[in-house]
Amino acid sequence: MTTNILFAAGAARWDDWAPPLRAALDRAGLAYELAQEMPSEKVDYIVYAPDSPLRDFTPYGRCKAVLNIWAGVEAIVGNKTLTQPLARMVGGGLTEGMVEWVLGHALRHHLGMDAHIANPEHRWHPVAPPLASERRVTVLGLGALGSAVAEKLAGLGFDVTGWSRRPKKITGLRTQHGVEGLTKALKGAEILVLLLPDTPATENILNAETLALPAPGAFVINPGRGALIDDSALLAALDSGQVAHATLDVFRVEPLPTDHPFWTHPGVTVTPHVASETRAPQGAEVIAENILRGEAGQPFLHLVDRQAGY
Ligand SMILES: NC(=O)c1ccc[n+]([C@@H]2O[C@H](COP(=O)([O-])OP(=O)(O)OC[C@H]3O[C@@H](n4cnc5c(N)ncnc54)[C@H](OP(=O)(O)O)[C@@H]3O)[C@@H](O)[C@H]2O)c1
Repeated sequence: MTTNILFAAGAARWDDWAPPLRAALDRAGLAYELAQEMPSEKVDYIVYAPDSPLRDFTPYGRCKAVLNIWAGVEAIVGNKTLTQPLARMVGGGLTEGMVEWVLGHALRHHLGMDAHIANPEHRWHPVAPPLASERRVTVLGLGALGSAVAEKLAGLGFDVTGWSRRPKKITGLRTQHGVEGLTKALKGAEILVLLLPDTPATENILNAETLALPAPGAFVINPGRGALIDDSALLAALDSGQVAHATLDVFRVEPLPTDHPFWTHPGVTVTPHVASETRAPQGAEVIAENILRGEAGQPFLHLVDRQAGY
């Protein structure tokens, strides 16, 4: 029997994804058809990205799973027509990319690099930065990405606290969880990394109240989602000096509108949602593995909890 796989992750991604997907499925010896178009009643799996024009899943009655090539699912998780299991991307190069991006930006702030990279007055200010062990870092979100980032930061010697929804133990860091753990996690943090999903429970998690908890002059690094931050509260915290600098990769509206104050605020670095992305060769392996699991009657990996929204 042929397994029919609809690639609905955007026509622009087809050339990158089709060859590694075929290679991974060929290696497994699966008889399949992979195409950008096929009759909906034939489709067994949909390879998907939330920016796809496909929004109505009703005609795909035989579809066993929708396999998202992104980690974030906020744009699709609430789709009422999507009754099939939804898996998100874990791995696929995302973790390595995110670890590198966060470590780079955390070290920039930790080492005070900006003072030396742009020093037009040629100030000689020989103050060595503190050691990582003297720097308190908090990572909000201890999932696939947050836990990898937290562990690498701890591996460099940073004093790391992580926060998640449910209790979690990770060697080398302190952990907090739930609403009651948030204050403890934020209190005194000098670098704050946001790697939470965008859900009703995480929206505006950084607001006027919670932004008062980190150490004065803290650094905020947000590669999670724009909705995690109340933009006005962050701007006020930057203006008061409570936050020294915010490095923001994600925004409520993307591309960030040209008149948004983040573009011109001296305490903000804007990066255009580049912290990490799924690489087709590695991502195709993850998708193929889930298809093979489905065909073998095994449970799918990385299923989204529709109730929790991530
Ligand atoms: N900027 C980029 O380029 C880029 C690239 C990829 C991903 N992202 C973003 O990164 C996010 C995280 O990805 P991931 O793969 O690490 O996700 P994940 O594995 O689903 O992990 C999410 C983490 O957030 C925690 N969490 C969720 N809701 C919470 C709540 N209400 N209170 C406390 N903790 C909560 C979860 O707690 P539990 O452990 O208890 O479940 C988990 O630790 C994605 O959702 C996406 O928005 C951005």
